[in-house]
Amino acid sequence: MDVEEKVLEMLKPRREEYELVESAYRKIAEKIEEKASLSGIQVEVTLQGSIAHDTWLSGDRDLDVFVLFPTSMTLEELRVKGFNILLEVAKEIGRYELRFAEHPYVRVFLNGVEADLVPAFKVSDPGKIVSAVDRTPFHTQYVSKTLTPGDKDQVRLLKKFMKTIGVYGAELKTKGFSGYAVELLIAKYRSFRKTLEEASNWETPVFINTLENADWEFLKKKLRRKYPDSVIYMPDPVDPLRNVTANVSLKALSTFILGARCFLKNPSIDFFIAEPQPVSLDEIIKYSTDRCLVVLKYELPEALPPDVLWGELQRVEANIVNLLENRDFEIIDSSTWTDEKYAAYIMLEASSCSTPEYKLYVGPKVTVKERSDNFISKHSENEYGPWIGKDGRLRSLKKRAISSIVDALKEWVKEYNSPPHLKPLTPSISRLNHEVVIEIMEKGGYAWLMEFVLKKPSWMAKCTG
Ligand code: CTP
Repeated sequence: MDVEEKVLEMLKPRREEYELVESAYRKIAEKIEEKASLSGIQVEVTLQGSIAHDTWLSGDRDLDVFVLFPTSMTLEELRVKGFNILLEVAKEIGRYELRFAEHPYVRVFLNGVEADLVPAFKVSDPGKIVSAVDRTPFHTQYVSKTLTPGDKDQVRLLKKFMKTIGVYGAELKTKGFSGYAVELLIAKYRSFRKTLEEASNWETPVFINTLENADWEFLKKKLRRKYPDSVIYMPDPVDPLRNVTANVSLKALSTFILGARCFLKNPSIDFFIAEPQPVSLDEIIKYSTDRCLVVLKYELPEALPPDVLWGELQRVEANIVNLLENRDFEIIDSSTWTDEKYAAYIMLEASSCSTPEYKLYVGPKVTVKERSDNFISKHSENEYGPWIGKDGRLRSLKKRAISSIVDALKEWVKEYNSPPHLKPLTPSISRLNHEVVIEIMEKGGYAWLMEFVLKKPSWMAKCTG
């Protein structure tokens, strides 16, 4: 048995699992139909996403239930009346959460199955969609007519591979490949291995022609213009001017390319099992004492839509790196993580936790008259200098108001903590210590912490030899 066959044994849902999700779906669909007809609205309850496509992984029982409303309703009516029908159904079924992506939906939990109940419009073609969710039924049609049962297993392999190396999921948390992007890759290359062979030779930006009979050069140009920041382009066959991989980050793409090369060199089950390295608390502390690891922690007063929260955290992270680099700290790495409910963390590694006590200013050569006069007056109050260096330039040394990174982050919080939901919050800032490590572990951020501290994904070991 090769690696893929062994892995598929684990990944393919068994009959009982199919029955479980099917019965959950039937129960939900019946209730929605009942409620809708009581309100006098004609709806079509449909199953979408990976369970409808039969590309889901055993254990990932996420039903995507899309309820299609007539286009005679307004968007406002859909979001109020339509949504309320789904909310009432969820209340009757059991535990539920209100969610919000581009528009509101309900997540309900039933017998080990998680179902998203999404109100959408029943549109006649993808050119007439009102919001992105209306496109989804066309994806299901496309996948159903394009993928064979064998292809679907290849999708499962590629999804699991991407999950293990951390590039599966289009949300801001991951900035990787969506389930639909994986399905399109398999529709194009027909196997997991062939996709990796292709990916191992990709150069950025990557263009993948997922269409037949398209004026490819023309479309490439249009996509590039519409998505100037993308690093990989895959037109959506049901709506070719949409780039399915618009939000894949350069880091996720690079991880996939290298992961593909390493797997082909050393095919191993390790690429399908994400096991955080078992490292003790003492070891983590040991790995961090001689480095400068700094953590900012936010206590979240309310649950925000995940993409809003991750987006704001990533903005603060970028602001901090910018600000610290402008003030002479050398930033080695930075990352963000949140449990999406109670707490959020931004971690930084700097080459040193303090800058030198004095900052050196190098001015103009004395032969540039006006500028050197200005330099002398501007720097006359500094602790040392101005003096003339061997290069003929004026110099001066000024004591810094702040040289510790933790003090700097506390002092300049208003400058970087600007996104709307984080702005009213004050992060607590400290070097990574026992207490913070325990707290992050308790919140479920162990794998993230490990990756940041150790900086060695477990599959990287397969890249040599
Ligand atoms: N979708 C999309 N683009 C995204 C996310 C979702 O077009 N970035 C649409 C696709 O039509 C997809 C459907 O929403 O088929 C459901 O997506 P999701 O539930 O996020 O993932 P699945 O494709 O169902 O994959 P899995 O549950 O196995 O991760």
